[in-house]
Amino acid sequence: MIPLAEPLLKGNELKYVQECIETGWVSSVGKFVDRFEDSVATFVGSKYAVAMSNGTAALHTALLVSGIKPGDEVIVPTLTFIAPINVVTYCGAYPVFMDCDKALNIDVDKVGQFLEQECVLKIDGTYRKKTGRRVHAIIPVHVFGNPVSIRPLARLAQEYRLKLIEDATESLGSYFSEKHTGTFGTAGCFSFNGNKIITTGGGGMLVTDDEKIAQQARHLSTQAKEDNLYYSHDQVGYNYRLTNIQAALGLAQMETLPAILEMKHVQYEYYLENLREIPGLRMITPPLGTRPNHWFHTIIIDPVVYKCTRDEILKKLISFEIQARPVWKLNHKQKPYQSAESFFIEKAPLLQAQAINLPCSSSLTEDQMKTVIDVLKKGSRL
Ligand SMILES: Cc1ncc(COP(=O)(O)O)c(C=O)c1O
Repeated sequence: MIPLAEPLLKGNELKYVQECIETGWVSSVGKFVDRFEDSVATFVGSKYAVAMSNGTAALHTALLVSGIKPGDEVIVPTLTFIAPINVVTYCGAYPVFMDCDKALNIDVDKVGQFLEQECVLKIDGTYRKKTGRRVHAIIPVHVFGNPVSIRPLARLAQEYRLKLIEDATESLGSYFSEKHTGTFGTAGCFSFNGNKIITTGGGGMLVTDDEKIAQQARHLSTQAKEDNLYYSHDQVGYNYRLTNIQAALGLAQMETLPAILEMKHVQYEYYLENLREIPGLRMITPPLGTRPNHWFHTIIIDPVVYKCTRDEILKKLISFEIQARPVWKLNHKQKPYQSAESFFIEKAPLLQAQAINLPCSSSLTEDQMKTVIDVLKKGSRL
């Protein structure tokens, strides 16, 4: 079987985890938590990094410390994994869904139109004309590691006084104009889930340049405990901290990250070169001025030209024991969000219906890629 996304655990993972076990430092404090946080902060170029139990927890915490209130609205993309939408709901706020661009990222021009046409900037922030609700934040997702057009989006956020919380869970190692994703707004969030570019089994990280945001995030994610002796708590907090064992894995993975990024780049070039000649099939390419991590390789099928539908070729790939998958169902069509607000979603349905993720493990071999490409080349003739 050619797996979709397998972790690469060939560095110091075992050695560091063994050290945790031998010393007994297995839980949510320990030197590996500090070292992992320092390593991620240095790598992405942010002043602070706070380790979290997963990417969803990091996003939830980022929204809470950004000052979200129940009843606020938050601008989100419809084409993404559901986690950044659910965290809006956890806060008692409402998602407003946006369309995507050809890189599958949030359509920044449309966000601009939405703010101009449907919102009004008042002295204390931006309000939606239709609902009267405050628009608190925007959560762009750097889908599959391709950076969103984040500078223009950050300018819009500034103009309309919106908090910018980047869902950079898929984009560790991705840059927009040589600045790392996740570092453009109030906070950025990373995930170290098993299929991500590096993994801690499960884990996340909130990064920020704002000392107060970092302090509050650390506080909220440790049950808002004010002191260790008397156990007084000044807020409703969360148990969102990463363990030392997970951080030990994370530190070892950070050491391997530059090599992983190199392998992913080579893979992407290989797929791009060999898939180019297939009529009706194109790879999602990174937007100009960006340097992506190439986390997930994604193709778009034009069923008329390719003479095979997305689902037909998906079935073929699976029958050859190649783990490929369609991209997520659009969130404004998911059961919990069918009655939520959205703004002219036009491109996302077609792109979603034509996209396939190809195997992308860091350890993917040239032979395995050849097998995938061969099946795609034969397409309907198989
Ligand atoms: C875009 C996106 N946001 C958020 C998450 C949530 O991260 P986690 O699974 O670590 O909670 C993920 C992935 O899992 C994701 O792909």
